[in-house]
Amino acid sequence: MIRKIILGALLLLVVGGAAFAQMGPGAMGLGDDYFPNLGNGGYDVQHYTLDLDVDVETNTIIAHVTIEAIATQDLSQFTLDFGDFNIRGLTVNDQLAVYLQDGTEFTVRPVEPLPNGEPFTVDIRYIGTPEPIQHVIGAIGWINYGEDVYVASEPAGAASFYPVNDHPLDKATYSFRITVPEPYVVAANGLLQDTITEDGDTTYVWEASDPMASYLVTINIGDFVVQTGEGPDGLPIRNYFPSHLAAEGEAAFARQPEMLELFTELFGPYPFEAYGAVVVDRVLPFALETQTLSLFGTGILDGETSGSTPDELIVAHELAHQWFGDSVSLSQWREIWLNEGFATYAQLLWVEHSQGEEAFEANIAGYYSFIANPVFITQGTSAPGNPPPDELFASAVYVRGALTLHALRLRVGDEVFFDILRTYAERYRYGNSSTADFVALAEEVSGEELSALFNAWLYDPVIPDMPELGLSAPE
Ligand code: TRP
Ligand code: ZN
Repeated sequence: MIRKIILGALLLLVVGGAAFAQMGPGAMGLGDDYFPNLGNGGYDVQHYTLDLDVDVETNTIIAHVTIEAIATQDLSQFTLDFGDFNIRGLTVNDQLAVYLQDGTEFTVRPVEPLPNGEPFTVDIRYIGTPEPIQHVIGAIGWINYGEDVYVASEPAGAASFYPVNDHPLDKATYSFRITVPEPYVVAANGLLQDTITEDGDTTYVWEASDPMASYLVTINIGDFVVQTGEGPDGLPIRNYFPSHLAAEGEAAFARQPEMLELFTELFGPYPFEAYGAVVVDRVLPFALETQTLSLFGTGILDGETSGSTPDELIVAHELAHQWFGDSVSLSQWREIWLNEGFATYAQLLWVEHSQGEEAFEANIAGYYSFIANPVFITQGTSAPGNPPPDELFASAVYVRGALTLHALRLRVGDEVFFDILRTYAERYRYGNSSTADFVALAEEVSGEELSALFNAWLYDPVIPDMPELGLSAPE
């Protein structure tokens, strides 16, 4: 008996010791060279369930979040990106766990280590006031001005209201259960599955069942009316407008089905279960391609979203992101041209379709002279493939990024060019890509050597000529 016990203890020591040797904490970043703290290593999230009881006037949330993940190494502890909240309960696999909060890094230590390859569930209850995160682009994340709420997080605002692996490399599906008092309405990503009203509060149950990057999560709480329609192949379209702006909203988004037709033809099947727009009742200086439900401010209704860009082109831009940015996501924020260059080029494809060849070429020439202007070049970045971290959303990324695709099209011809776009959208669907992946794929599909073209257009401080259109940079 005694011998047995000693042997058992010895065995435990040896086995436990061996296991412990390979075991370690998950990394506190995902290797993004611009934002090394974004995301975390050692696990792969499959699904988030966000159950939020929201008091809009006081901007407090009572939250219950569960995260289903798979360990990708033996984990002694792991980290999530998360703002500062009052934690009311934390378990991992139903066992109490301890945590350490350091800025936006929230480290969880389970009682039992988590073996590589095994699923685990994190369950967190917390309350507090979500604070927007200050990023170079401005305040991002959960935004509440006391009357309504919207969520716009690119590149890293999701952590303002839930614990998350906050990098596009770790996409996951989502369930939302958002409870608000009447008369608020909630619009989030995916499909509205249920509304449950009890004692004057309504819980909106939304399911997003395609993989989604955290910066594309959106939750909007306001006085909305919904307009429904259909896109290609019966795709459900639902647009949410402030109730006093329903007519203006319908007019501004009337051509979305036609845009969906065009982009489906040019890029391949629309990747998600639904599409639509949400217009929040506020003038915003931007729009965002939140997955399945792009977000706009009221400027989209009267031309004030983005000074010189017509509203219809912004509508097309956010739609095109669903293929490029949302379904196919970047792997490094440095390569943001893969999102913005593509969506900006898609605006011109819409011009080509809706206004004809002449208008299209005039737009290309306009882009070129804008971006080739020496005044412009001396301000900050000029090469779209490698913008400084504080200029991720600079015009060069959008405009010269778009021209890069046009240069490719002029080089390989229309048929091969659209074959490249469709092959790219299909091969990296729901996943991540890189500039190197795109260049390799373009070479594979076209059978041409294209590195000189891409190097010049993406990385040379001086904009290359576009001799086919008689365009060259001023001396
Ligand atoms: N991706 C947006 C676009 O369509 C621009 C953007 C970048 C943005 N960061 C944001 C919008 C943060 C809202 C919030 O071009
Ligand atoms: Zn964009």
